[in-house]
Amino acid sequence: MTIRTVLRLGEPLLNQCSEAVIDPGSAETSRIIEDMFDTMKHYQGVGLAAPQIGVLKRIVIFGFKDNERYPDQPPVPETILINPVIKVLDSSCESDWEGCLSIPGMRGRVSRPVRIQYTGLTPQGEMIDREVEGFHARVVQHECDHLDGILYVQRLDDMREFGFQDELDANHRYDTPPPCDS
Ligand code: NI
Repeated sequence: MTIRTVLRLGEPLLNQCSEAVIDPGSAETSRIIEDMFDTMKHYQGVGLAAPQIGVLKRIVIFGFKDNERYPDQPPVPETILINPVIKVLDSSCESDWEGCLSIPGMRGRVSRPVRIQYTGLTPQGEMIDREVEGFHARVVQHECDHLDGILYVQRLDDMREFGFQDELDANHRYDTPPPCDS
């Protein structure tokens, strides 16, 4: 069990573009993924990207089963995606609150495409190919942004809809359940 330090906003590695993974099945890749799961679960995130633990490789993990904050959301299967590619399926967008383990204690409202297709490799070298929408689509987009050095704060529509979670909570600013970090 290795809980890694999660890099925080301001650390320049978070703004860099990550490299493709050449060998998804290598011992090195498997160790990185293990550390990512230990770290994500320790901090109760719903997703994590490798650069958040300082590894500039195109690996993301995400997923949750019964999250009490999202009773209406279908569970997102626990997934490891290596070298992911996202295709936006149509032009409809939706705005919702996001949090990030690299920006602890803060929340911001971000507009993103509702429906996407994503592909990527598993550590076994199999191709995952899914069409998803809603929260699932949002989490995948948030994680894959990390691989291109993009944090959600770069996508805020309105800086007035960005703030400390406890203030937003106290002032009932959410019209949806408060989000988890990813
Ligand atoms: Ni994040």
